[in-house]
Amino acid sequence: MKRVSSHVSLASEAEINLDLSRLIIDKPRLGLGLERKRSFDEQSWSELSHRQNDGFDSVLQSPAFPSGGFDSPFSVGTHFGGGGPRPLVNEAWEALRKSVVYFRGQPVGTIAATDHASEEVLNYDQVFVRDFVPSALAFLMNNETDIVKNFLLKTLHLQSSEKMVDRFKLGAGAMPASFKVDRNKNRNTETLVADFGESAIGRVAPVDSGFWWIILLRAYTKYTGDVSLSESPDCQKCMRLILNLCLSEGFDTFPTLLCTDGCSMIDRRMGIYGYPIEIQALFYMALRCALQMLKPEGEGKEFIEKIGQRLHALTYHMRNYFWLDFHNLNNIYRYKTEEYSHTAVNKFNVIPDSIPDWVFDFMPCRGGYFLGNVSPAMMDFRWFALGNCIAIVSSLATPEQSVAIMDLIEERWDELVGEMPLKICYPAIENHEWRIITGCDPKNTRWSYHNGGTWPVLLWLLTAACIKTGRPQMAKRAIELAESRLLKDGWPEYYDGKAGRFVGKQARKFQTWSIAGYLVARMMLEDPSTLMMISMEEDRPVKPTMRRSASWNA
Ligand code: GLC
Repeated sequence: MKRVSSHVSLASEAEINLDLSRLIIDKPRLGLGLERKRSFDEQSWSELSHRQNDGFDSVLQSPAFPSGGFDSPFSVGTHFGGGGPRPLVNEAWEALRKSVVYFRGQPVGTIAATDHASEEVLNYDQVFVRDFVPSALAFLMNNETDIVKNFLLKTLHLQSSEKMVDRFKLGAGAMPASFKVDRNKNRNTETLVADFGESAIGRVAPVDSGFWWIILLRAYTKYTGDVSLSESPDCQKCMRLILNLCLSEGFDTFPTLLCTDGCSMIDRRMGIYGYPIEIQALFYMALRCALQMLKPEGEGKEFIEKIGQRLHALTYHMRNYFWLDFHNLNNIYRYKTEEYSHTAVNKFNVIPDSIPDWVFDFMPCRGGYFLGNVSPAMMDFRWFALGNCIAIVSSLATPEQSVAIMDLIEERWDELVGEMPLKICYPAIENHEWRIITGCDPKNTRWSYHNGGTWPVLLWLLTAACIKTGRPQMAKRAIELAESRLLKDGWPEYYDGKAGRFVGKQARKFQTWSIAGYLVARMMLEDPSTLMMISMEEDRPVKPTMRRSASWNA
């Protein structure tokens, strides 16, 4: 049951109409006009960061969506205006259910892949935090909320395990990359064993896990209307510990988060160390989610203030220095170097000769994107899917930037989507560059895996971005491409090649997030109101209180 709060004010009719025109494609499945409230994400974070106990908690109780109405194997709905590939959806649900991992009789997550044909299991038999996100969203949309709650609670408890890499202790807030259930048949016991990077290939701690955890906690809260979980002392503490890792003061001159290579979905050396867009976008989104859930009492207050300040600086930095469009590219091309002082135009001393040739062809007249990375004398011009889509759904991108990102995807459809959505990054690095940047990684050869490979899981993020920017037809086109191959190919982890035509060299089959990503994409397109679970509105500056001018009464 979802709780309805009487404290929230209804959104104005104009706001609702605006949202509807942006969101609805076929026909509304829910009575949005009646049900939607001015939810917490429509408030400004600057407003929230200054809030005291001002009824915010009751705002949180606002149900994002009324129950029921979601398409699942157990309910019949419209699919793209009538007949959809029902068997495909059923197969996907069946495969997703087979991937569920149980701990002491309770569902706690989904295994990364159930590819029995593959000789090497590695850690694909574990529940990955990032991989579970699309599964969780699919389960939530199907009103199966327990597995999500259990997952959040189990990973929260794992946070307090001892985290050592050899003799070095990790920060208390670190969240696991993955975990597995250890079964002792003799003693008939089960324990959860987490990997914080100490067993992972490359020994990298996942910076994204904590952010995804916060984002998922908000999605759960928003969907179920159950605030008791996010308000519990354990969840509040977990959030604070995660935030503590990224909000502490140091030598930073930038508000972005400094990371090592391989600390996110791209978990191998791919030249993304520094300030990768994927982490910056997730960081921004997690900060905004946390701001909505942190209680202003006790230690929470200090975090709320810090988040407000950081968001202010991060938004400015990202929107200005990471943004690339035709105009900016031309400016960078004409940059002077060695500029000293506050008046410098080329603040990071980027040498124009370092702009790769491909960008000049890739950049359309209309469109733009967030760069892969920006640091002193370094701009990674590669386009990354996850960071750009998250920038749209979290409103890190301004509305104009969001439109431009989608314009670019449309203009460069052949390169970024081709025969299967969606390229993890573009373009691939080759030859000498590949040797230097990946350390000769045979898994990351050009147009494969993380190096310009195609990942079906990204379909849900593309769909979310399409819906948010009012381009459902684009999502539909991408979903149809995925449908033509995914089941037939056995739900591969990734595809290879410039157009994403070939099942990846070492791709697992029955990769859970490929399955869940597809389901989420379809469900979101069928019921665009579900987007609100993971989307945030553009932050609005605090409106000054209207006062009568002194001359009014004069
Ligand atoms: C690969 C991916 C990573 C994913 C894991 C489990 O290592 O790079 O992002 O979480 O597989 O599917």
